[in-house]
Amino acid sequence: MSSLRLLDIMQTSPVIPVIAIDDLAHAVPLARALVAGGIRVLEITLRTVHGMPAIRAIAEQVPDAIIGVGTLTQAEEFTAARDAGAVFGVSPGLTAALVQAAQSSGLLLLPGVMTPSEVMSAREAGFRQLKLFPAVPAGGVGMLNAIAGPLPDVTFCPTGGISQESAGQFLACKNVACVGGSWLTPRDAIMAGDWARITTLAKAASALRRAL
Ligand code: 3PG
Repeated sequence: MSSLRLLDIMQTSPVIPVIAIDDLAHAVPLARALVAGGIRVLEITLRTVHGMPAIRAIAEQVPDAIIGVGTLTQAEEFTAARDAGAVFGVSPGLTAALVQAAQSSGLLLLPGVMTPSEVMSAREAGFRQLKLFPAVPAGGVGMLNAIAGPLPDVTFCPTGGISQESAGQFLACKNVACVGGSWLTPRDAIMAGDWARITTLAKAASALRRAL
């Protein structure tokens, strides 16, 4: 597991879109629209049955996309996602089984944490890049700043409840490399095939700046 590579991925763009694919035909044009707006790191979640085929299609047809697999909760999903073309995974939390799956699959993992004890457990398991989830209910910017003192050697991708308007406050935290969110991929725009709107949202997100 290479933590440097995961940090590189997190620093590629200020925002990682969290994507749920309801129709496999949307996957490639959606990924192209985001990449056209400067957003190359995409989290394709396994919340729908189309998640894994969408990862495969994007990996084959959108070479500039850096694909993450999201909502990883089962150990067996790691190798399947890696084989489909995902280069990193995101989980809402961390369990012993997921630590083992990350090690055995070689898939880079951005695990979810919500408390200082969870940060410490993840750190003990070898993870220095973490997803603060759900970021706003967990305390948001105040939580991130408070945790930076006692736990300075971890870097976060806060996700959950963040918007274009609030993202800048998160990105200004010294322990934040990027944020995650679903606002770049509104369901109505996807269902309408309004890829231009998604590129516009991606361009606005690309223009956000992080503190690191
Ligand atoms: C999610 O749970 O879908 C992600 O955390 C994104 O959350 P958001 O919709 O609040 O951006």
